[in-house]
Amino acid sequence: MVAYKDIKASNALINDANAPHIAVFVGGTSGIGKLTLNALVGTGTSLRIYLVGRRSSEERTQSFIQDLHVVNPKAEIVWTEAEVSLLAEAKRVCEDIKSKESRIDLLFLTTGYAPFGARKETPEGVEITQSLGYYTRMLFVLQLLPLLKKTENPRVVNVLGGGMERTTSINVDDLDLKKPGSFRAMTAQPHYITLNTVFLDKLAVEHSDVTFIHSWPGSVNTGNVWRSLDPDQYILSWVVWLFLDPLIRLISSSDEEAGQRHLFYCTSAAFGGRGIAWKGKAGISTSGTSNTGLFLVNYKCESTPNAKVIPLLREKATAKVWEHTQMLLGAYL
Ligand SMILES: NC(=O)c1ccc[n+]([C@@H]2O[C@H](COP(=O)([O-])OP(=O)(O)OC[C@H]3O[C@@H](n4cnc5c(N)ncnc54)[C@H](OP(=O)(O)O)[C@@H]3O)[C@@H](O)[C@H]2O)c1
Repeated sequence: MVAYKDIKASNALINDANAPHIAVFVGGTSGIGKLTLNALVGTGTSLRIYLVGRRSSEERTQSFIQDLHVVNPKAEIVWTEAEVSLLAEAKRVCEDIKSKESRIDLLFLTTGYAPFGARKETPEGVEITQSLGYYTRMLFVLQLLPLLKKTENPRVVNVLGGGMERTTSINVDDLDLKKPGSFRAMTAQPHYITLNTVFLDKLAVEHSDVTFIHSWPGSVNTGNVWRSLDPDQYILSWVVWLFLDPLIRLISSSDEEAGQRHLFYCTSAAFGGRGIAWKGKAGISTSGTSNTGLFLVNYKCESTPNAKVIPLLREKATAKVWEHTQMLLGAYL
């Protein structure tokens, strides 16, 4: 466990010289993205953040943006409206951002929720939690990589379930879980987590100048568990209300700690790159190095390289995941 006081000490060293100057937050309208954005703006540094979110969240987000401006007048938050479950929309905003910026220091991705409800597809034919938790995220990464590669310390921080991937979690014969019986509450989320790691692991090898982080945030009481429940799932809603929600409240990190720990991922050299010098234990990437690659990290800010599983996933899944994802995203690149 990296002590919280050490995280705060590192974050206290963030200044105009080492902060990410241009950042894109997809999912910063709620939860861990919002908490991290708050922590980043709270450093008082000069920065511009593209905050990408859906129209229904614009009004409350504008009020959040006004509050942030009071906290840090040097922070420019650019509200960027997009229906982020749709690939065409993700492409549109990426092109908009690319027309305005020549470089990006940080891409922070948190959209989505656990697929506990019935299978629902977006108008583009993708299961919605897979689109939010995998496809549109990877599209943002691919679209914005050229701009990330123009900075000194580029980072992609992806929040879902880094370190939780298993060889048995991924269904390589039905990557979109479309066959009857493939999409189930307890299997879809581990499948999506593993897809994220497999795809980012390959990208990290090809783009060793970019630091990739896949974070498992543990438990943070953001209300995320309620998002997937359909109004007619009375029994499950009751179970969540009676058992899961109180448990989450009991074991969750505080909002502030979750924000600060994720800010640490955005800025510290503990996970490769050229971040703020770190005297503690260095993180180890899925390639076994400490200076570059994909870092799987847990809520204690420890790296969990999953060294037995990753080589097996490379053998069993990488080619299929890569090819299928490229095919699906191809029209939006
Ligand atoms: N919180 C935890 O304890 C925990 C634990 C493990 C893994 N995770 C995963 O980590 C990620 C971040 O978690 P979080 O708690 O920060 O999530 P969150 O607050 O519930 O939501 C994150 C973002 O997803 C967006 N979103 C949700 N449904 C959407 C939809 N249908 N269309 C468009 N955008 C949508 C939200 O936008 P709006 O603001 O517009 O609603 C928000 O910006 C999630 O994928 C979550 O499943 C969370």
